[in-house]
Amino acid sequence: MTQDEMKQAVAQAAIEYVEAGTIVGVGTGSTANFFIDELAKIKHKIEGTVASSEASAERLKGHGIEVFDLNSVSEIAVYVDGADESNKYLHLIKGGGGALTREKIVAAASKKFVCIADESKLVDVMGKFPLPVEVIPMARSLVAREIIKQVGGEPVLREGFTTDNGNIILDIHNLEIMEPTKIEQILTNITGVVTNGLFAIKPANVLLLGTQDGVKTIT
Ligand code: A5P
Repeated sequence: MTQDEMKQAVAQAAIEYVEAGTIVGVGTGSTANFFIDELAKIKHKIEGTVASSEASAERLKGHGIEVFDLNSVSEIAVYVDGADESNKYLHLIKGGGGALTREKIVAAASKKFVCIADESKLVDVMGKFPLPVEVIPMARSLVAREIIKQVGGEPVLREGFTTDNGNIILDIHNLEIMEPTKIEQILTNITGVVTNGLFAIKPANVLLLGTQDGVKTIT
């Protein structure tokens, strides 16, 4: 099975978690795109979606799927999204596509978070994938200094990239994340940080992992 076939398999498996008549939270990235394409096949069964990025909203609308503003929605039954890394506790690194803030918001508004990923994303210790941090532009240098002081690693500006919220991303390289919840909390508390890409304080509820032996469900 290729990596894309594994992504497609987990996207199909995630459809099982979509309940008829509900609103679905939709993530961002190549795996989430497979999910959007699967969701299109059952679009008449759901009430609509809330998207975690402009890109996903466009893809959903392209399929004729309704996209609601989060403020007009009282409850999201399930949020389905990919990840850049996951450990066995379903702590995640997200934000490789730069959509981490809206992803964290939609995940927080959802009753259940189903993460979909191919097997390359499952790691013992997170941090090989540079940890994205969304930052208010004027705080870039301050936040970079505080990151080095408080958690270590090497924050690197993601060149030529602006988030959907008009902010910049610092990717923290060379950070071995032994205590994900603690690192998430410390980064959250740095003034000028909008969001960091660790989803550990509120991890995924289910990980659907695409492997050569089929889709594995990890809870
Ligand atoms: C987007 O900002 C990310 O959090 C994605 O969910 C993550 O990068 C996974 O993307 P892929 O499915 O493309 O690997």
